[in-house]
Amino acid sequence: AGIVEHTFVVSQVNMTHLCKETLVTVVNGQLPGPTIYVTEGDSVVVHVINNSPYNMTIHWHGVKQRLNCWADGVPMITQLPILPSHNLTYKFDVSRQEGTLWWHAHVPGLRATVHGAFIIYPRHGPSMYPFPKPHREIPIIIGEWWDANLTEVARMVKDDTGDANFRASTINAKLGDLYNCSGIKEDGYVLDVEPGRTYLLRVINAALYSEYYLKIAGHKFTVVAIGANYVKPYTTDVIPIAPGETVDALVVADASPGRYYVVALPSQPPKPDFQSPVLPTRGTVQYSGNHSDVMPMAPEMPDEHDDAITFYFHSNLTSLHHPKRPLVPAQVDERMFVTLGLGTICRQGQSCKRLGKGNERDLILVATMNNMSFELPDAIMTPLLEAHYYNTSIMDMLQELPDGPPRMYNFTDPALIPPGPKEAQLEATSKSLLARRFRYGTKVEVVFQSTALKQGESNPMHLHGHDMFVLAQGFGNYEAERDVAKYNLVDPPMVNTVLVPRLGWVAVRFVADNPGVWFMHCHFEFHLLMGMAAVFVVENGPTVDTSLPPPPMDFPTLVHGSYFQTF
Ligand code: C2O
Repeated sequence: AGIVEHTFVVSQVNMTHLCKETLVTVVNGQLPGPTIYVTEGDSVVVHVINNSPYNMTIHWHGVKQRLNCWADGVPMITQLPILPSHNLTYKFDVSRQEGTLWWHAHVPGLRATVHGAFIIYPRHGPSMYPFPKPHREIPIIIGEWWDANLTEVARMVKDDTGDANFRASTINAKLGDLYNCSGIKEDGYVLDVEPGRTYLLRVINAALYSEYYLKIAGHKFTVVAIGANYVKPYTTDVIPIAPGETVDALVVADASPGRYYVVALPSQPPKPDFQSPVLPTRGTVQYSGNHSDVMPMAPEMPDEHDDAITFYFHSNLTSLHHPKRPLVPAQVDERMFVTLGLGTICRQGQSCKRLGKGNERDLILVATMNNMSFELPDAIMTPLLEAHYYNTSIMDMLQELPDGPPRMYNFTDPALIPPGPKEAQLEATSKSLLARRFRYGTKVEVVFQSTALKQGESNPMHLHGHDMFVLAQGFGNYEAERDVAKYNLVDPPMVNTVLVPRLGWVAVRFVADNPGVWFMHCHFEFHLLMGMAAVFVVENGPTVDTSLPPPPMDFPTLVHGSYFQTF
């Protein structure tokens, strides 16, 4: 096993799109940031130098960080943020997983531009793939272009003082030819292929907001992995992908040599307050030796609100038998039922009872799990992981995420599917440091139920430090007596981010066997900012092998008394 070392310099650069210059925060001046290639078993060392004006952390999305929660990169949950003009070195091993993951800033808003691919090769190289070795491998990062100060947007969303929308969809930061001041030649993604060859696309959705449908005219995908876990080959002409998800898919260049559009179409329901929908990004697949200037062939795109396509795609994925694949727990120690929704709290924190109907503006919209909204109190100065490790009184502030008994939502009553959040009949809720504690090795089942509010935005739920087995999903209400029968306990796919169907539910299981403090949250950035999150505290097991080691000596903790080095 080797050591893979990188230096990430985070800084602000000007980028021009849509005829407008915008200051964006990026790593090493690049968008997307550098791709990290590792081989299973390698150690990774990344020196992060924060030249940006913002607090920074980098999260290695989907890397399990077994017994190494210290490197997970969540501000005030696993570490102190890297202040401007400070640096931090992340060190971690990558083992027992292979495929496509990614890294991103885990601070409000900046994930949109501080991100890159994280690719794990099998221990003995690409010839060990459980599919024919592709001719070439290509990271495809789907993202959004915002011509705004994202830190400011994040603050407005969190305080409910404003809203914003992205301006364009992107593939590897290119907008394509459907936008002003943007052309397929100057700003279009191009995938060069040779006839007859096979390509492995490593697709990542790095968007803050939108799910996407990815299509290539005249070509099919064979999906071979999701969330860095192999699946049985599944052939499809469309890849629906939600924020936080990664999909590995083979494409054979078997069409007649020419040019074909590759299109990523946003599929989040439109926001009521934005009239113009955001367009898809269009790039091209270009066969070698073909220099014709004929218009590329365009794929037929699904309707942007066709949830059935996304549902069908995910229903068709089953895990591939693989020596590294753990078995799905047949028995469960703890069950959780978690409703995902929106609620309101008082802006000033005082009781809202005295507020009459005309005072709705004093209510802030928040996102909830079981009608509770997550917030890290400002008073907390020690990261929770450190507080947990040294068992300080901060841990007393944790509030148990309540168990929501299954509730029946009326998904067909139009009154419950309101046109906008402000008009919705939202429940009053409260903010707290939501958490759930698990004894080491607890086998957990979670049913996530999305609710009818706000036309049901996307809820890609991401769990740090663990993969989840996806047992079943459905539209409407989850009903145990009926739906348990649908569970796939034989070959369910494993993911770190599970998409809860809009106006539907999904059932997952995982084993809480990685001691530490792990964030669990919606990967739709606005929901995260608004509080759709909790921490899962996994206790130590009885042995060294099952316990969180102390923080690395050079890791900045308050206990070490060492803060970051300035430069
Ligand atoms: Cu990819 Cu907590 O995030």
